[in-house]
Amino acid sequence: MRIAWGFTGAGHLLKESVDALVKLSKDHEVTVMTSGAGEEVLKMYGLFETVKNLTGGKYRELVLESDQRESYPMTGRFSLATYELLVVSPATSNTIAKIVNGIADSLITNAVAQAGKGKVKTYIVPVDLESGDVETILPSKLELETCKNCEPCQAAAACPQDAITPGVEINLLKCEGCGTCQTACPFNAVTGGKIITIHMREIDVENTSKLNNIEGINILSHPKELNNVL
Ligand SMILES: Cc1cc2nc3c(=O)[nH]c(=O)nc-3n(C[C@H](O)[C@H](O)[C@H](O)COP(=O)(O)O)c2cc1C
Repeated sequence: MRIAWGFTGAGHLLKESVDALVKLSKDHEVTVMTSGAGEEVLKMYGLFETVKNLTGGKYRELVLESDQRESYPMTGRFSLATYELLVVSPATSNTIAKIVNGIADSLITNAVAQAGKGKVKTYIVPVDLESGDVETILPSKLELETCKNCEPCQAAAACPQDAITPGVEINLLKCEGCGTCQTACPFNAVTGGKIITIHMREIDVENTSKLNNIEGINILSHPKELNNVL
């Protein structure tokens, strides 16, 4: 089957989405698309290279938001029966809010709109599914309470992206999630994969439920549910 997979900029369910994509790519031709934030966040969590390595060749491309212009020519493929399925996983609150309001101004929201027009079945894994608090995972983080402000800072010296300002923070837009800083710091002041609790806003949960009213769109609560769909 030929499938298009869209990543948006959510850390929540990101690793689970990449794992599901890796599985899917073994048996199907998958074109991967990322929103601008999707590309950044994949890098922050050290998952961009894994995704990139799955791609290569016709209909196994990696299409970045920055490769496209405002008219998103690539999404015309959804009107030409190129793909049988579109998956968006994970889908941020921002992307869901746009989709339920018919906005199509990013690569992923545009793909969803065009998939609807081309009658291509769409499966979306929204991060804001139910009210309440959920646990989510952070990328690399400099813990200032533990940081001893060493001079020189070994974590900063070891970072291949020069992303660390010692005693201040990690610039996540430079970080590629390699984790070198975590092993380099002798005081374990850099964490990776720390779990935090975030609150789901009612407006985001409400938007997610509105997806049910859009023809051609199906909601999944976890990317592994794609196994059942396929
Ligand atoms: C490390 C990191 C993790 C994030 N995780 C989430 C998330 O789980 N859910 C979410 O809605 N936004 C998350 N965001 C914010 C989105 O990336 C941001 O709202 C972005 O503008 C979404 O754009 P997009 O919907 O076009 O991908 C995260 C941002 C960062 C830097």
